[in-house]
Amino acid sequence: MTRIAVFGTGYLGATHAACMAELGHEVIGVDVDASKLAKLEAGEVPFYEPGLEEVLKRNLAAGRLRFSSSYQEAADFAEVHFIGVGTPQKKGEFAADLTHVDAVIDTLAPLLTRPTVILGKSTVPVGTAARLAKRVRSIAPAGDSIELGWNPEFLREGYAVQDTLHPDRLVVGVANESGDRAEDAAREVYAQLLDENVPFLLTDLPTAELVKISANAFLATKISFINAMAEVCEAAGADVTVLADAIGHDARIGRRFLNAGIGFGGGCLPKDIRAFMARAGELGADQALTFLREVDNINMRRRTRMVEMVRDAVGGSLLGARVSVLGAAFKPDSDDVRDSPALNIAGQIQLQGASVNVYDPRAMENSRKIFPTLEYTTSSVDASRGADVVLVLTEWDEFRNLRPQDLEGVVRGRRIVDGRNCLKPSDWTAAGWEYRGLGRPLQHGRRRVGDPE
Ligand code: UGA
Repeated sequence: MTRIAVFGTGYLGATHAACMAELGHEVIGVDVDASKLAKLEAGEVPFYEPGLEEVLKRNLAAGRLRFSSSYQEAADFAEVHFIGVGTPQKKGEFAADLTHVDAVIDTLAPLLTRPTVILGKSTVPVGTAARLAKRVRSIAPAGDSIELGWNPEFLREGYAVQDTLHPDRLVVGVANESGDRAEDAAREVYAQLLDENVPFLLTDLPTAELVKISANAFLATKISFINAMAEVCEAAGADVTVLADAIGHDARIGRRFLNAGIGFGGGCLPKDIRAFMARAGELGADQALTFLREVDNINMRRRTRMVEMVRDAVGGSLLGARVSVLGAAFKPDSDDVRDSPALNIAGQIQLQGASVNVYDPRAMENSRKIFPTLEYTTSSVDASRGADVVLVLTEWDEFRNLRPQDLEGVVRGRRIVDGRNCLKPSDWTAAGWEYRGLGRPLQHGRRRVGDPE
């Protein structure tokens, strides 16, 4: 058992704190946001993450987990300090904003009077860990006996508990000259996972930082690759979903993360590829990453393409059209709307004069905060009342399982645009709907008696 402090109680920190307690450690979660702490203390997760609330409640009840705003309490208590605060994109720049990470170090280090290990989890520009290690040693009373390592996090929202307790791999970067205690601490904290043969990769600090950011850059590239193929498919009259299935059978390519659609969003991939480009530029290696600008461009073009497709679907102008938007979160099983393609598209369509009704199973409250001018409804049916066209923008199971008969007599026009290629076109065309998917040929519905010309 290790005594652990986790700084930051957002998607990453709260999950990490609860899961470390689940592994049997004694954990204190620290944040500066009193309202978040109060919720967590009461066993309530401040965001939607399947399975996390049970883990949180179980460990609060077992007395292994608590929350506090006191750095002093954390410094007195913990042997290992994890940094799990956010590193958003800087306003008006591509680079990452390290204010929160720096603040944790600057507040914590002066309180460290005994030999301690700090393990960073936040996604940071390469070189940050070495800089922080130096800073900690210079301002902590325990000086050189503080070891700082970097232990990047690969969890996906929606699978955060599973990814933390059963990761694909553990990566721990340590300083070349003195990394033994950081390595030992990591091995102790993750002993249970190591017993289960989770691969453990010990690296230097810059490699650990780069592993994280290059993994996200690869994933973003994979998505933009298939979306670029979708553009070509649209021009050539081919079907990108069949293409993805076919190339995905090649094990070297693999089918996962080859879903064409409105592209990637969220709090990680978009800002990570930009921060990566910015950092490479500082290091004089910008040429190596110029392709990421294209990855970003392809991704943003998908949003515009979706808006065009919807405009075509309603006859060339969105003015006065009624549009039903199903999905607002950046992906299913999440209430996160940060840089959400779905909300971005809903906003663009509204700006072109349509009236837009949005429904999402979990992300309504967050959406309302950042897009208060859209209309929010309580169900797919409610959103689709009188609609000229229905858009599926986040592939929640609830929308995948939607049947044409659920919307029969509800919509004004039987047209559906599938922004995630998550529906079976024939289900809709058989019921007389016009089906459009990104990177797929237009599929007309069977004409039905009484249909307008
Ligand atoms: C991503 C990575 O997948 C995690 O490994 C990483 O730890 C995390 O960022 C992070 O850096 O914290 P996440 O942002 O939760 O995780 O979401 P993803 O599942 O990667 O999806 C990102 C976006 O790509 C979503 O908008 C999703 O809809 C889109 N996507 C995903 C596609 O458009 N097509 C696909 O085939 C897959």
